[in-house]
Amino acid sequence: MDRKRALITGITGQDGAYLAQFLLSKGYEVHGLLRRSASADVIGSRLRWLGIADSVVLHDGNLTDLSGLLRVMQEVKPAEVYNLAAQSFVKSSWQQPLLTGSVTGLGAANMLEAVRIACPDARFYQASSSEMYGLIQEPVQSETTPFYPRSPYAAAKLYAHWMTVNYRESFGLHASSGILFNHESPLRGIEFVTRKITDGVARIKLGMQDKLALGNMDAKRDWGHARDYVQAMWLMLQQDVPEDYVIATGRTVAVSEFCRLAFEHAGLTMEDHVVQDERYMRPAEVDVLLGNPEKARKNLGWAPETTLEMLVAEMVEADLQRLRHHEHL
Ligand code: NAP
Ligand code: GDD
Repeated sequence: MDRKRALITGITGQDGAYLAQFLLSKGYEVHGLLRRSASADVIGSRLRWLGIADSVVLHDGNLTDLSGLLRVMQEVKPAEVYNLAAQSFVKSSWQQPLLTGSVTGLGAANMLEAVRIACPDARFYQASSSEMYGLIQEPVQSETTPFYPRSPYAAAKLYAHWMTVNYRESFGLHASSGILFNHESPLRGIEFVTRKITDGVARIKLGMQDKLALGNMDAKRDWGHARDYVQAMWLMLQQDVPEDYVIATGRTVAVSEFCRLAFEHAGLTMEDHVVQDERYMRPAEVDVLLGNPEKARKNLGWAPETTLEMLVAEMVEADLQRLRHHEHL
């Protein structure tokens, strides 16, 4: 029997790599979109880290190029499409608002068009974000909480989110949005605060640096593990009826608390090393995010398996190991 085929955009990112690993374990034939880069050494480093680089099929393409997306869709004919590609770093979205709009917003519309034209029976997942809640309108955010985006990134994601709803309602696509709260892992990009902290802690522990400069330590996030969250993406596409789901842990802590846990894991004291640096502050901040994953628990049978303490420990240990072996990610 033919293996079920999935196409993942953003396969070289954190979630794409974990999702590819998960789908391979389910017996899928996994295809991914790869944007051309002059720096060949960084391409696929996460897939290599997971040991699956040779198990996936990569296709040259870019979210901003609809003709290329159509070609890939026609070649692969996927049963499931996961649109994870984006300019995903919120802080950069103020420096590159139009690029962020093109990739994170219009890029999703390009993907929906490619599916509608070339593979209308494929099931589609859109990577929506808790960042869309921005200036929160309810203390605990669920699928019915109104959005209030606070960054060009969030505004672009909101457009992509509503386009996904629109294509579902207008064209009958099996299209679902996962409104995922922050999720981290050893494969997290180094510019995001959790990985910046665990990498910094590891460097301090190994005597490679003494200080760690951070921005707003009071911001609170609902942090989970990417490995748990990609399973929710898959579960959404296994439902008869496409819908939108909040994926979160239901616990929120401040950046300072994440930091304290990471330093403590390495036997260090945060106050001895952390300094505040204006350069890491944002023009507008999302002060607190806290999700209610009840609908996902009820309809999908999904629940997070990794606690914050387990996540912090895994990330610090991975960074210590990488630095000891002179590896980069
Ligand atoms: P990530 O690590 O930053 O990965 C982003 C991926 O998008 C990379 O594979 C990147 O390719 C690719 N990409 C960027 N621009 C592209 C373009 N123009 N054409 C094709 N591919 C492009 O992000 P992530 O943390 O895995 O997140 C996955 C998705 O979920 C993103 O859409 C993100 O916005 C969303 N999300 C993430 C979180 C979270 O907490 N992680 C929460 C909610 C939503 P390169 O490797 O070439 O850069
Ligand atoms: N990156 C970073 N660097 N953030 C810092 C720093 C620092 O030095 N110091 C404090 N922070 C604060 C930020 O101001 C923010 O309030 C919080 O830490 C988290 O920042 P990030 O880790 O960059 O993540 P994010 O919450 O802005 O965005 C992530 O989560 C979204 C879901 O809510 C990204 O993964 C987005 O793509 C995702 O949609």
